[in-house]
Amino acid sequence: MERHEINVRLDESVATTQPATRSYTIHVGDTILQDIGVLLANDSVQRAVVVSDQAVSATHGKTVTKGLQDASIAIDHLSIPSGEASKSLAESERLWNEFARLKIDRKTAILAIGGGVVGDLTGFVAATFSRGLHFWQVPTTLVAQVDSAIGGKTGVNLPAGKNLVGSFWQPRGVVADISTLTTLPDREYVSGLAEVVKYGMILDAVFFRWLEENALRIRDREKRSVAHIVRRSAELKTFVVERDEREITGLRACLNYGHTFAHAFETATGYGTLLHGEAVSLGMMAAASLACSMNRIDKLVVERQQKLLETLGLPVSTTTLNGIEDDDLLGVMSRDKKNIGGRLRFILPSTIGEVETVDNVRHEFVVSAINRLRRHT
Ligand SMILES: NC(=O)c1ccc[n+]([C@@H]2O[C@H](COP(=O)([O-])OP(=O)(O)OC[C@H]3O[C@@H](n4cnc5c(N)ncnc54)[C@H](O)[C@@H]3O)[C@@H](O)[C@H]2O)c1
Ligand SMILES: [Zn+2]
Repeated sequence: MERHEINVRLDESVATTQPATRSYTIHVGDTILQDIGVLLANDSVQRAVVVSDQAVSATHGKTVTKGLQDASIAIDHLSIPSGEASKSLAESERLWNEFARLKIDRKTAILAIGGGVVGDLTGFVAATFSRGLHFWQVPTTLVAQVDSAIGGKTGVNLPAGKNLVGSFWQPRGVVADISTLTTLPDREYVSGLAEVVKYGMILDAVFFRWLEENALRIRDREKRSVAHIVRRSAELKTFVVERDEREITGLRACLNYGHTFAHAFETATGYGTLLHGEAVSLGMMAAASLACSMNRIDKLVVERQQKLLETLGLPVSTTTLNGIEDDDLLGVMSRDKKNIGGRLRFILPSTIGEVETVDNVRHEFVVSAINRLRRHT
């Protein structure tokens, strides 16, 4: 299978402690993980520290180790417990201390191998240790390959909320090997597809149409289809990040389509009840139906999005919100850090492939959109 290189070109004049250039390449392909040593050696790396979680080091750790050994790169391994709880200051501190014990210096490359949890935590620790280390992202979940490994947002959670402490820290490179996804549990894979649908809805009607035509092949994880969704999603996220890396112009905010609702659903149901992508699927349904009730889009747009999400195995209605009051959900939404001054702001579709930011949306429209998701059996 072909291998694709996506070049991420960033504004090099931005003030940062990032060593050397901040632009980098995303490598997407099938069974390319073994080439990791060559890629690092080409970047003059002689020593690497590999950070992964237990699930990933057991499945894909050996391939990475062999690739690095073949390129004569010295390796140390660090492991973190699987799961969102590892995105913490406690785990960051443990890794900082491990880095100190290993006498890591600014010539050592840090490799994050795993899902978004490993990538966000390791990126943050790499950004902060010795005022910044070179770091590589090796995403092994669909979410990480299409979203979290791209764009340079790193960070950890506080008890007060998700991703409250962090840094923009760009990787030196990203290696997205789609063969690593074969070990991913089905629910995790399907959940990641929500972000893929999101890219079609917000930026690319042609891609959306392709997703509709290939939905069953994608659902069945057919290799060529998986390679295409990872590649196109990475390109679309790159397009946004290159133009609005720090969320200044408002363009990057389009990536939050469905997410104001999704964050409220995740918070109100308790983390872990819904996977993030499942919440995003419900959130995109709520956002589209909200846009429709405000006469911003035709009903057909809502129906096409719904059919695609359903065919991919994603939820479009839920029983998990039963017993949760509308006011509680509205309260969480108005505290969302993307809202300004408690007013409700949404990213809403204007057609397939285009979104707009809409401020001051009336609460009763929002409540109706949520209630259309509620299912009682
Ligand atoms: N930085 C960003 O821009 C950004 C964007 C989106 C999401 N995120 C963050 O990403 C995190 C979610 O990422 P995620 O969905 O990848 O979750 P995750 O990292 O928790 O991975 C999900 C599960 O899959 C396991 N796993 C990983 N790769 C595997 C493989 N190849 N085979 C088998 N099991 C595997 C992990 O051990 C874990 O149990 C959240 O913390 C979210 O905030 C960050
Ligand atoms: Zn998301």
